[in-house]
Amino acid sequence: MIYTKLDAFRDDFLWGSASAAYQVEGAWNDGGKGESIWDIYTKIPGATFKGTNGDIAVDHYNRYKEDVALMAEMGLKAYRFSISWSRIYPEGRGEVNEEGLKFYDDLIDELLKNNIKPIITIYHWDLPQALQELYGGWESKNIIEDFNNYCITLYKRYGDRVKYWVTLNEQNVFIGLGYKEGLHPPGVKDIKRMLQANHIANLANAKAIESFRLFVPNGMIGPSFAFSPTYPYSCNPEDILAAEDAEDINCSWWLDVYCKGTYPSFTLKNYEKLGIAPVIEDEELELLEKGKADFIGINYYRTSTVAMNPLDGVTGNYRMNNSGEKGTQEEGGIPGVYKNKKNPHLDSTNWDWEIDSTGLRIGLRRLTSKYGLPILITENGLGEFDKLQEGDVINDDYRIKYLKNHVKACKEAVTDGVELLGYCTWSFTDLLSWLNGYQKRYGFVYVNRDENDVKDLRRIKKKSFYWYKDVIKNNGEDI
Ligand code: BG6
Repeated sequence: MIYTKLDAFRDDFLWGSASAAYQVEGAWNDGGKGESIWDIYTKIPGATFKGTNGDIAVDHYNRYKEDVALMAEMGLKAYRFSISWSRIYPEGRGEVNEEGLKFYDDLIDELLKNNIKPIITIYHWDLPQALQELYGGWESKNIIEDFNNYCITLYKRYGDRVKYWVTLNEQNVFIGLGYKEGLHPPGVKDIKRMLQANHIANLANAKAIESFRLFVPNGMIGPSFAFSPTYPYSCNPEDILAAEDAEDINCSWWLDVYCKGTYPSFTLKNYEKLGIAPVIEDEELELLEKGKADFIGINYYRTSTVAMNPLDGVTGNYRMNNSGEKGTQEEGGIPGVYKNKKNPHLDSTNWDWEIDSTGLRIGLRRLTSKYGLPILITENGLGEFDKLQEGDVINDDYRIKYLKNHVKACKEAVTDGVELLGYCTWSFTDLLSWLNGYQKRYGFVYVNRDENDVKDLRRIKKKSFYWYKDVIKNNGEDI
């Protein structure tokens, strides 16, 4: 639908920005923090771009007041950040680290003092290394209880001040890349193990939501999903079928569990036939039913386009572009199901991520039709090279264009009837991009460091900082 007039965003719309502990905090072994799996994994030669890690990151741990002051200057309404589990429980369980709890207390208070609503992500991939060593992390059901205890500690401590909570960030990514592609810790490449670890993560997610209702009755909670809606490459019915299967395998496999408490039947049946389906106990289905989300958090960056893939077609091995050399990504697929294709209608970033603001509207509408839950956009942004010019100027017009189009897509979705709680950009300051180093920048605020040199970590406002400030002030009216 093309509208001549768009509806306004709600008055309490959460204009936000997001980050994650490992990507911004640094202080990896300060304040009583234990090691996380990322502290270890990034030190493996060849694992990340130019061997970058988050030991110092952008030093948010020590500079959070300066960062929050910049957020306040911008007029940010919400800040989504994650809590480092091993800062709270250095061993993942057992003795709690008061210094860690106090750091987030202070951050939350600083935000509230500046009228910025904190949105807590409980888990953004940095599992305590001790639990990985003790029982294999997400591959053991022991994690359900440990994660639940960690969550309850957070609910009790921050539940009085924080209304919005995200359980797991991008379970589809940390489980998929961690256990199928072998690109994230623990570096496993085994789909059966991946599906079982994923089931355990679903149970941990549901248990954490069930507990949340007891401790934070007035809050809202849900996981954040990396959502790339699927398009068919053509109107050939074979491609339509491939797209429906891909959407089921890559999206509904997670979203149905979060929102309906059940696995999608076609994909489950297929996994059973292949002998790789997770083992699901009856009482576990009851837990999934009890632990459904209040809202859907989505991290949206791009769409995915697929065509039918013959039985002897391309396999799952694909190469990620982690260097920023456009055109170096190689796509794969599942024989007999689908293969990824480059969408000829879309431009892409230097990291080969398709740019598709309409895809965001399409995705929001699909989720609303299928699940009927409110949606919080927990991440959306453009990772690009930025150039620091003389006089501390960064003219990131490409980022403004990207964000403006996506905010417009949100407004159109709201006009369609989507219940949108807010929009968090990724990210506020520049930060470590897991496998891509520091050169892939996302922030409104430039941080003066690169892969080779920590420099002075100076904060510099980009042109997009002023643009978003204006959007927030006008509640998106001028879009
Ligand atoms: C999401 C993550 O996958 O996308 C973020 O939640 C991440 O942590 C962001 O940084 C962008 O991805 P990347 O690989 O460009 O850093």
